[in-house]
Amino acid sequence: MNKTELIQYIQKLREKIWYHSQLYYIEARPEISDFEYDRLFDELVKLEQEHPDLITADSPTQRVEPKPISHFEKFKHQVPMLSMDKAYSSQEIREYGQRLQRFLKTKVITAYVVEPKIDGLAIALWYENGVLTKAVTRGDGEVGEIVTTNARTIRNIPLRLLTQTPPKVVEIRGEVYLPRAAFNKINQELAKAKVEPFANPRNAAAGTLKLLDPKIVSQRRLAFFAYSLGYHETLLQTQWQTLSQFKEWGLPVNPLAQLVNDFEKVIELCESWQHTQHSLPYDIDGLVIKVNDFALQQELGMTSRTPRWLLAYKFAPDQAITRLEKVVVQVGKRGTLTPVAILQPVELSGSIVSRATLHNYDDIQRKDIRIGDMVTIVKAGEIIPKVLGVIVERRTGQEVVISMPQRCPVCNSEVTKDAEGVYLRCQNLNCQGGLKSKLLFFASREAMDIRGLGDKLVEQLVDRGKVQNPADIYRLTKQDLLELERMGEVSAQKVLAAIEASKHRGWARVLCGLGIHHVGERVAQILAEHFHNAQALLQAKVEDIVAIHEIGPILAQTVYDFFHSTYGQNLIANLQEVGVDMISVSKTQPSAMLDQKTTQVSFWHGKTVVITGSFQQWTRPQLKEWIEVAQGKVSDGVSKKTNIVLVGDDPGSKFQKAQELGIVCMHETELQELWQKEHSNPNANTQERNGNPTQTNFF
Ligand code: IVH
Repeated sequence: MNKTELIQYIQKLREKIWYHSQLYYIEARPEISDFEYDRLFDELVKLEQEHPDLITADSPTQRVEPKPISHFEKFKHQVPMLSMDKAYSSQEIREYGQRLQRFLKTKVITAYVVEPKIDGLAIALWYENGVLTKAVTRGDGEVGEIVTTNARTIRNIPLRLLTQTPPKVVEIRGEVYLPRAAFNKINQELAKAKVEPFANPRNAAAGTLKLLDPKIVSQRRLAFFAYSLGYHETLLQTQWQTLSQFKEWGLPVNPLAQLVNDFEKVIELCESWQHTQHSLPYDIDGLVIKVNDFALQQELGMTSRTPRWLLAYKFAPDQAITRLEKVVVQVGKRGTLTPVAILQPVELSGSIVSRATLHNYDDIQRKDIRIGDMVTIVKAGEIIPKVLGVIVERRTGQEVVISMPQRCPVCNSEVTKDAEGVYLRCQNLNCQGGLKSKLLFFASREAMDIRGLGDKLVEQLVDRGKVQNPADIYRLTKQDLLELERMGEVSAQKVLAAIEASKHRGWARVLCGLGIHHVGERVAQILAEHFHNAQALLQAKVEDIVAIHEIGPILAQTVYDFFHSTYGQNLIANLQEVGVDMISVSKTQPSAMLDQKTTQVSFWHGKTVVITGSFQQWTRPQLKEWIEVAQGKVSDGVSKKTNIVLVGDDPGSKFQKAQELGIVCMHETELQELWQKEHSNPNANTQERNGNPTQTNFF
């Protein structure tokens, strides 16, 4: 073969491979065996090795870059990647349809495309002359990160569009996701390696796409669905046409997308999907309704933030009904006694659930939940399952009223209701019940940041009686650690070094780690700025503490009580004794985490908020705590000074007054979104580790 013939031969071989990989990965109807496919592939690899000058960027052998990259470059999207308006019920979808029609006046919308809303992350793929040249994450919608080397490893993303006449440039947008089977496999492997598993496939996909080593990305089996055009110069006129064009180009399009002519049918379709979502091999969190015609899309334009021509319909959180068999009491890090329902195991959102939180005894009483009751449980996203309420009609008369514990189940000390009168707390600050979570919190990133001191280690240390309070951590010897399971010389050394390093995190971090109720990272910092060392707080009166603008009377009393308790004073003395620095935070180097949180002002900062009605996810004191810790104010009555009214179920007259005064009202769904935004792990997208530590500890 001369060079020209060789080039032609290699090109033919590549085309064969593209053709068969398209059949295999996109259409799922292979024509040749895996063995034959591998043979073609190996031949190409061999020829390219012999003639490296003939390797092209779009060659199927070039999916995996051999070396990790150092970082991701930023890229400004030519067309911003926007977000969508959301609806949560048929009624809201119907209202959206009416809004569309009102907006368009006499013009009638004759077609909509309804597509599954894939729960992954958006990506923009740039094809130049048909060749994949760039893949960019959504980022903040304006600027994303270039992740081309990683995207190339995704087997159903074509490296070249299957056409002889590709557009000069086209940007194709879609969702990168992780099929559930691949997710389970990754988590099994992480568990084996003793690394914290991912909370859900979406986090795993996000974490994976941001790994610097394309080889690992390639093993993780991400997948892709294309759903829209970004920058383009095509003559396509409708969404439906676009999806067909994508298919012709060899891009994977979700096969469940449907063209619907009538808005009532759109609603019916959305309703029918609620129950089928779990039968798919990947997660979807709703449906997307799109006006089919691009000219109409153009005419509809945008509201201030989102396009008018599409709507996300988000599925209501899944519910299940099961029997409450008994109630156990869990003692948390601040001595809080949480009643936990032990349930007859039941499937919920694709997993088997046998425990759910009952929040507190007030909640149990209010909902009149009894042992033996058939209860409705709910799980929304990653939130732990909770008992919503009782199906009273299914009572047999055998149900038993749940009694409130008078004594702590762990140390038998007296329990009392906290200042807000909702939570039961064990009064023994030394109680071993919450010790494990207390220690984990002390070692967590927001507090002393002792890397390596995780769940497993703390569990063993407490069970063997090696650690009875946070100060004992600093008394651990290498020998103590070597006696633990799976602890070698090197790991022990590392843990000891991390413990030693943590002595110098500064007073604010120590204060945060003490586990005083309501004192998290932010409050600890405020306190440390006013009381520069432990001595100052030990001498402070309640009035001195409450004099700080951001600190309310309940919080001030709690802090005062802690510093006047034997437990608190002993702990401070012990920490001093073992050499933990307790100097003012302003003189210490804040950790990256602290930096991030303090520069990110909470939504509640400086706002006056009124709460009305009840919420599924929070009790009122919980909401109050969230707002106050973030330097917002919660007041009782609605007035012109009120900035926001939080409206739960069965709201009272405050809601009406808010509407009369034109005050912004927030409902639970918006609160949930805000909660997720303000509490999501800032490293969630970049690291292997993920999840909310308090949730992981709880169950
Ligand atoms: S169209 C204006 N179609 O949902 C945004 N998005 O919650 C147009 N998503 O960022 C996007 N499936 O990542 C569209 N079939 C689909 C989708 C979809 C999932 C994602 C997308 C977007 C997010 C918004």
